[in-house]
Amino acid sequence: MKISIAIDGPAAAGKSTVAKKVASILGFIYIDTGAMYRAFTYYVLKKGVDPQNEAASCALIPEVKIELLPGGTVLCNNEDVTRVIRDPLVSANVSYIASYKSIRLHLVALQREMAEKGSVVMDGRDIGTYVLPNAEVKIYQIASVETRAVRRYEENIGNGIKCELKQIEEDLRRRDYIDSHRDFAPLKAAVDSVLIDTSFMTVDEVVNAILSIIKRKTAGDRK
Ligand code: DC
Repeated sequence: MKISIAIDGPAAAGKSTVAKKVASILGFIYIDTGAMYRAFTYYVLKKGVDPQNEAASCALIPEVKIELLPGGTVLCNNEDVTRVIRDPLVSANVSYIASYKSIRLHLVALQREMAEKGSVVMDGRDIGTYVLPNAEVKIYQIASVETRAVRRYEENIGNGIKCELKQIEEDLRRRDYIDSHRDFAPLKAAVDSVLIDTSFMTVDEVVNAILSIIKRKTAGDRK
């Protein structure tokens, strides 16, 4: 039986850490859709195009090839962009790129194609509402903006990326606003999603909570 797990929520709510672990425990494919919007943004910046220019950014669609390899490597036109897509400049511009309908439709088609191949854990903003509306399990993962800023700060420092906590918090607030106010497929909890507030939970606690939800939901499906 092919199972799809959708994990949505605001930036830096810990979705990818948790999604990766859940996928590895269940032997499912992990798909980081945010990495795809980031890779596209990286390419726009690399070409010297202004990410706030919708027409110029969308005109690049035919020349961008994004691939997610097992193990987490992200390729953009065969260049390994796994690290550089976490750069603050990419983070600061990705919400503009993610608000353009043509780019979303292009990347969503790729995401659905990947989910067709087997059981997946896919994280993003619109997975439960738009990309995989029939996902067996939908999680909406949140945490306070202060908690998220500290987590992202520590993650960046751990990866050798220079940053400031206050700047990260501002960027998260701005991105949350743009992501949840765009016209097409905005950040929003699916009506049939389960809300998990991870502000005071460890990664393992969240993983275990999600595994229990999956067990409960998929057992129900088989009845
Ligand atoms: O999860 P992340 O921070 O890597 O996502 C980067 C950006 O991409 C984020 O600002 C919102 C956008 N995004 C989106 O609009 N839809 C998705 N399914 C995933 C990410």
